[in-house]
Amino acid sequence: MTNKTIISGFSRLERKEKLDLLLQNIPDRVQAFQEIESYRHSDRRIQNLHDEFSENTITNFYLPYGIAPNFLINGRNYMVPMVTEESSVVAAAARSAKFWSALGGFNVQVKGMSKNGQLHFTWKGDHDRLRNAFPSLKEMLLKGTEHITANMVKRGGGIKSIELLDRREDMEDYYQISAGFDTGDSMGANFINSCLEEFGVILKEFLRTGNRFEKGEQEVDIIMAILSNYCSECLVTAEVGCKIGGLKSMAGDMQADEFAGKFHRAVRIAGIDVNRATTHNKGIFNGMDAVVIATGNDFRAVEASGHAWAARNGRYGSLSTSGTENGMFYHRLTLPLAVGTVGGLTGLHPMARRSLQILGNPDARELMEIIASVGLASNFAAVSSLVTSGIQSGHMKMHLSNILNHLGADKAEKEAAAVHFEGRKAGFAAVEEFLNTMRREKQNIN
Ligand code: MEV
Repeated sequence: MTNKTIISGFSRLERKEKLDLLLQNIPDRVQAFQEIESYRHSDRRIQNLHDEFSENTITNFYLPYGIAPNFLINGRNYMVPMVTEESSVVAAAARSAKFWSALGGFNVQVKGMSKNGQLHFTWKGDHDRLRNAFPSLKEMLLKGTEHITANMVKRGGGIKSIELLDRREDMEDYYQISAGFDTGDSMGANFINSCLEEFGVILKEFLRTGNRFEKGEQEVDIIMAILSNYCSECLVTAEVGCKIGGLKSMAGDMQADEFAGKFHRAVRIAGIDVNRATTHNKGIFNGMDAVVIATGNDFRAVEASGHAWAARNGRYGSLSTSGTENGMFYHRLTLPLAVGTVGGLTGLHPMARRSLQILGNPDARELMEIIASVGLASNFAAVSSLVTSGIQSGHMKMHLSNILNHLGADKAEKEAAAVHFEGRKAGFAAVEEFLNTMRREKQNIN
């Protein structure tokens, strides 16, 4: 098979046929086949479930599922499940959580739960006529989507606002119908998209009927109907704070106030420099994504929204802020966060269900609070390390462990390597050399 080969009907092949096709040019195909097979679940029911989450599935791809304990959030203690492949993320979050739990924990506030979506269309006609007719259209949009919204309305949610936006200054003939939604405890993507697509049908009908519009105005070009992942009305703020002296145990060789000053300058740098801001925010999402994934939520949506928010002032900057006021240190994170605790994968993936159970079956609001706290904890740990010891000492321990595992080191070899590489650079070649020497010496003795 060359790169240029177009495969037709791949999705209709049996899994084993897909594998045959896939492995035909792989030199160690027997071993590759066995490895791929070994990642399938022994319980057929669970494997089928996983296969159906996606398409053309041939096996699973595991990620570690860890727990960060001691998250004291709004007076309640949580053990937080985190799914991440990156070493140090869980340890860093846990370290922050424990530190702040002794100082009152995380204070978190949800400042809105509203999501939004738009029907994008172009229309050539008299703007005033459309604007004047809009109240009637709005009524029709609400009425015409009742079959979709009825259940959500029963749960206190539904369509909360509908607006006509004139965007002709940005693009010729371009308008939006922009709507705000309350999707209760669900992330609500399907609900929102279904409503918006129905808006398109209703708009077409509205323009054509009722003699409201001239002949040339009865046609509309619906471009698309889609939710926005930019949920600037679905915000959460997490904050930690303490007297400056309380920071002593994080300050390394410094005094607490010197540490606080450096910490604030590091956060300010992320506010003014895009190179640093991107990495700073990545560290926040290290923790947040891990909980978002563990609870079966959409981490791409959460990331997209967060990064757009970070650029809301026209320049990409830090999602967190910090400062000292009247001798009190604070560190704060505000960002949009659309997550659900019902619907989607949250109820389907057995481990997502377990994660929510471990968290005490939170509603969407509480889950927002937990995830934002983990983001802030991750940021606090990262910045604290950066301004004290640097991150490499912690990372290198994990890095060493990954290399040792890769080279198949046993328990004794790992222990010896940990001692040997204390304070030394543990690059791949150096670790391999160390193990080879150790193994040779052992062979000579035997
Ligand atoms: C590494 O995954 C994340 C950090 O780089 C975040 C940061 O620099 O703030 C440590």
